[in-house]
Amino acid sequence: MGSLTKTVVFLCVASSVLCTPFINQLQPGQEWPTRSSVKQPYNQAEPEPTVGGVTKNEEVDVPAVVDEEKATDDDKPIETLDDVVERIDYTGAQVWKVSTMKNNAQRLINQLASEKLIASWGGNHTSIDILVKPKALENVTAALKTKDISYYVMIEDLQQRINEENPPLDENELELQDRRGHRMTWKQYHRLEDIHGFMDYLAKTYPSIVSVKTIGKSHEGRDLKMLRISDGKPSNKAVFIDGGIHAREWISPAVVTYFINQFAENFDVESDDIKNIDWYFLPVVNPDGYEYTHKTDRLWRKNRKFGYGPSSCTGTDLNRNFGYRWGGKGASSYPCSDIYRGSGPFSEPESKAINDFFKSSAVKFSAYLTYHSYGQYLLYPWGYDNALPPDHKDLESMGKLIAQAIRNTGGSNYQVGSSSGLLYPASGGSDDWAKSLNIKYTYTIELSDTGRYGFVLPASYIEPVARENIAGVRVLARQLSKI
Ligand code: ARG
Ligand code: ZN
Repeated sequence: MGSLTKTVVFLCVASSVLCTPFINQLQPGQEWPTRSSVKQPYNQAEPEPTVGGVTKNEEVDVPAVVDEEKATDDDKPIETLDDVVERIDYTGAQVWKVSTMKNNAQRLINQLASEKLIASWGGNHTSIDILVKPKALENVTAALKTKDISYYVMIEDLQQRINEENPPLDENELELQDRRGHRMTWKQYHRLEDIHGFMDYLAKTYPSIVSVKTIGKSHEGRDLKMLRISDGKPSNKAVFIDGGIHAREWISPAVVTYFINQFAENFDVESDDIKNIDWYFLPVVNPDGYEYTHKTDRLWRKNRKFGYGPSSCTGTDLNRNFGYRWGGKGASSYPCSDIYRGSGPFSEPESKAINDFFKSSAVKFSAYLTYHSYGQYLLYPWGYDNALPPDHKDLESMGKLIAQAIRNTGGSNYQVGSSSGLLYPASGGSDDWAKSLNIKYTYTIELSDTGRYGFVLPASYIEPVARENIAGVRVLARQLSKI
């Protein structure tokens, strides 16, 4: 028994606190390769205790959008104590797809955004999706009309979509859920507890191939739980897959856990392409944000660390916080921005934990896939500016093969290109950082859809989206086996 384990067991017994998380931690004989003496994140001091998901000394900040439009208490059921927080209500808010083909369109959008009348949901070179607050509908309509900018209402009432997005499981599913050793399904978007419980279950059930390791803690003290699937062959290649960097992109953790489930539950009958890879999964990079989107604000993007300083706001965009070309184009130094880059590279515990893991790991990864939503894009570096890595042709052709596999399986069309070229420059992304570590096949995958539901994709889409995307992962594995 290692000294850490001994200490942990002692602490658990001594404190007589329910101390389950360690049961499924790394099993003996399954040591993950480390670069020796580097201090492991789980040795670090515990972060601040949290109260109802909010760090004690943090003030609850003013919600970024629709803050005037809160629902009254009496029309909402009281849930568990943990869930007694007011939810941000998006009744009457709309989502529009606005053409940016006219050259003054982008400027107007920026203007409206700075006046907090709208919030950007993302876009490309031809259009941008914006959330329009209920009170701003008339003004924004008028502003676009006078400039003759065309738009299309994608979502008439955002709150209605939110209400319909994640219906309860039917009785059959509930019964099945009770008989399995975990509560995870791919028919619903689940809370973090279910996702982590599922990962622990797999580690316990398939100890010879699955192991779980907490690579660090989020700002509010939640585990950053990573799962490895490997049969331990020294000749294996390695692939790293993460999800949930952005809190509101619920389809991402759902798809990544689907991959985990397929590979772990069916490992024996999987192809050699799959078995010849050590798979590393971190399905929820931003657990605080993820829980916050379930409890308070469905459309939260960033993490939940409060930025101290003169202009204070909560949250850093973790996909602007990675340490390669940090602070360049497409990232904000303003803490209240949705694309706030943080106070420095890896200033956030969540991105830092990933970087520490890679620094301390002896594994040479062949691919890094990071799942986001939405837009249906397969993006390769660089993202920081309009530039391409020397092997961009390899990235393009692999991307095309993955996109083709997706199309052949499920029918969705994924566009392939560099992040900066296809979308817009944005620096501090995890993909650029991974590429800078010499991980050849690095992609940001923007899952479905293309804007009909946007971030609020109904749970019934989880399985189809996951199924077509696992076909893409299989093609990647197949190609890796050839090189
Ligand atoms: N929608 C993603 C974001 O804004 C795209 C990231 C692409 N990668 C990049 N390094 N810009 O975070
Ligand atoms: Zn994202």
